[in-house]
Amino acid sequence: MRIYLVDDYEKMSKKAATIVASQMRIKPDSVLGLATGSTPEGMYKELVKMHKKEDLDFSEIKTFNLDEYYGLPKDNRESYYFYMMNNLFNHINIKKGNINIPNGMEEDIKAECIRYEEEIEKAGGIDLQVLGIGRNGHIGFNEPNLKFEALTHLVKLDEDTITANSRFFDSLDEVPTKAISMGIKTIMHSRKILLLANGKEKALAIKKALEGPIKPEVPASILQLHIDVTVIIDKEASKELNLEDHPKLKWS
Ligand code: GLP
Repeated sequence: MRIYLVDDYEKMSKKAATIVASQMRIKPDSVLGLATGSTPEGMYKELVKMHKKEDLDFSEIKTFNLDEYYGLPKDNRESYYFYMMNNLFNHINIKKGNINIPNGMEEDIKAECIRYEEEIEKAGGIDLQVLGIGRNGHIGFNEPNLKFEALTHLVKLDEDTITANSRFFDSLDEVPTKAISMGIKTIMHSRKILLLANGKEKALAIKKALEGPIKPEVPASILQLHIDVTVIIDKEASKELNLEDHPKLKWS
């Protein structure tokens, strides 16, 4: 696990975009796993800039999003489909057929989850998966649980997640209570993982994820077992870490 400690959100976003862009330049037909939420917004802005100014080419890139709310149509402003179009896909030269996001409106959810896993496999697996982290330690929408859920599945969202995400909705009642999410095994099968976190409200989750015991109550803690994880955190998100315990920590 490489940990980059950066001053602030802007530096985190730039560094993350550089890593994603490097992956794309090394392998122009990379399969990228993408995340939503406030955390990667800045990274997407940087990638759009790189596409416009430096010809960063998305024409052969395939993407798989981590998750989608259950029951929100694509044109709902809070759906992750809408988020991705708005923040990234509408501004780059990706082929629409290469974009994959779970369909939260599918009636047969089990079939949709199986289909999603099959699509990832058909694409040859994910080369680089970008992750944010929930303040309860979730990755994707894998909530704290009694066991690690392996594959893409329907999730009942935690109260804490619903409260955290209500900032995007007009009221708490409008926040969906369920979502479709890649599972822990799906995420762990990615060849490389890039975990981003900023702000003090993520500090405890980051400490538990990076230093705590590996347990399904802290889904992100499983990342300690992955062979190629890069973590980029800002100063505030690193506040609870025992910095001297991390020999791989780099100031950036
Ligand atoms: C969301 C998403 C996650 C995201 C996390 C943190 O609900 N499902 O993929 O990483 O919670 O979100 P934010 O970046 O807005 O803090």
